[in-house]
Amino acid sequence: MARDAMTDTSLAIVVLAAGKGTRMRSDLPKVMHPLAGRPMISHLLATAGELAPEKMVFVVGPDMEIVGETVAPHPTCIQAERDGTGGAVKAARDELADFAGTVLVLYGDTPLVSAETMRRAVEACCGDVAVTVLGFRPTHIHQYGRLITNDDGGLETIIEAKDASPEQLAVNLCNSGVMAFDGRHLIGLLERLDTNNAKNEYYLTETVALARADGHAAAVVEGEEDELLGVNSRADLALAEAVVQNNLRARAMAGGATLVDPGTVWFQHDTVLGRDVVVHPNVVFGPGVTVADDVQIRAFSHLEGTSVEAGAVIGPYARLRPGARIGAGARVGNFVEVKNADLGAGAKANHLSYVGDARVGAGANIGAGTITCNYDGFGKYETDIGDGAFIGSNSALVAPVTIGDGAIVAAGSTISSDVEVDALAIERSEQVAKHGWAAAFRKLKSKKKG
Ligand code: UD1
Ligand code: CA
Repeated sequence: MARDAMTDTSLAIVVLAAGKGTRMRSDLPKVMHPLAGRPMISHLLATAGELAPEKMVFVVGPDMEIVGETVAPHPTCIQAERDGTGGAVKAARDELADFAGTVLVLYGDTPLVSAETMRRAVEACCGDVAVTVLGFRPTHIHQYGRLITNDDGGLETIIEAKDASPEQLAVNLCNSGVMAFDGRHLIGLLERLDTNNAKNEYYLTETVALARADGHAAAVVEGEEDELLGVNSRADLALAEAVVQNNLRARAMAGGATLVDPGTVWFQHDTVLGRDVVVHPNVVFGPGVTVADDVQIRAFSHLEGTSVEAGAVIGPYARLRPGARIGAGARVGNFVEVKNADLGAGAKANHLSYVGDARVGAGANIGAGTITCNYDGFGKYETDIGDGAFIGSNSALVAPVTIGDGAIVAAGSTISSDVEVDALAIERSEQVAKHGWAAAFRKLKSKKKG
C-alpha cells in the first residue's frame, strides 16, 4: 500500500507527451506512432487504466490535437513551451494542486511498462520516501539518465547522460522515466527546478536531489529492459515493435494456437485467435481479425478486418480484406482475394479469384479465376451467389447480379443477368471444330521451312 494508514492512498497519473520527438524526423507526434497497430499513447492509456487511478492527465504540445482526441475523455494540459520533462509536469500543476495521494509520472515514449511494474513503483513510494524511480539496466545505455545510489541502495540523484562525468556514465543503472511522487511534496519540488544543465531545460529528474536535500528518502525499483525501453528514434520504434510482437506471439500460443514459426507471424494488438488454430509461417494479421477454433491459416496469408469461423482453411497466399466473413469449414485458397463478402459454411474459393461485395451461399464452389466485377469506375455493386451454386472457372460476374441456389455457370462466361435457381448459364461463342486443320497447317509450314 502506498503511504501509511494515516495518509492518502489515492493515485493520479500524469503522462508526458508534449515532446517534439525531433529524433523521429516525423510530422506525426512521437506518441502517435503505432506499435502493433495502435499509437504508443494508447498502449500506455490501456495499461495505466488497469491501476484505476483517481485521475489521469496527459500533457501535450499546443499543436497536438490528435493526441488529445486519442486519449479523450481524459483531460489534457498544454505545455506551451517545450522546456523539459520538469516543465511538462508543471504544466499539469492545476490538475494536481491539493492532491495528497501518490502521483505516478509516465513518459509517453516509454509505452511498454506493465501494470504490475507501475504498481511496484507506486507501492514503493510510501513512508518517508518522497519519490521512487523505476530503474533498469539496458543493453545500450548511451541515451538514458544514470541513477546514482548510495551504499544502502537509496537513490541520491539522477544525472542526465549529457551532464555526466565519465565515472557517472559508467553506471549501468538507468532511469526509465517512470517516477512516483508523494503528492504532498511534488509541487514544491517542481517549483525549485532550474535550467542549469546541458539542455537548458527543467529536468524532472532533478527532483530526486532536491527531495534528498529536504531530508526525504528516494528509492529505486528495478524493472526489465523489455518493458522500459524508451522510443526516441525509428530504430527504437522497431525495437519496441519487436518486444510487442513477441508478447503477442506468446499470448496467442498461451491461448492454444500453434504458431509453426512464431517469429514470422505478425499480430495487431486486437488479433483474436481461438483454440487449436494453426498459423503457418509468414502470416500477417492487420487490424480487426477474429479467428475461431480449429482454423488453419497457411503460409503467406494476409488478413485484415476479417472474421473466420471454425474449421475454415485459409491460404497459402490468401488475402482477406476488411469485411471478409469466412463461414465454418469454408476454404479460401491461393491467390484468392476476398473483400466485404460473406462466404457461407463450407463454400470454396480455392484458386486465383476476386470475391468482393458479395454473398457466397453455403457449399457454393467458386472456380479458379472467377472475378466479381463489382466496380464500374463510379459505384460498387453486389453479387449474390446462392447456396450450392457452382461457378465455372474464369467466369466474370458483372454486378449487380444474382446467381440462384444450385445454379451452374459454365466456365469462361461473363454473367450480367440474373441466373435462376438450378439453371445453367452459359455465355460464350459456340465452339468451331475444323477437321484435320492442325495437321494440314503443320504440313504446309514444314514444307515452306524445308
Ligand atoms: C528522459 C529522462 C532520462 C531517462 C529517459 C528514459 C529527463 C530529463 N530525462 O530522457 O533520465 O533515462 O527519459 O527514456 O527527464 N516531454 C514533454 N515535454 C518536454 C520534454 C519532454 O512532455 O518539454 C515528454 C516527451 O514527450 C517524452 C518524455 O517527456 O514522452 C521524455 O522526453 P525525452 O525528451 O524523450 O527525454 P529523454 O531525453 O529520453
Ligand atoms: Ca525519451
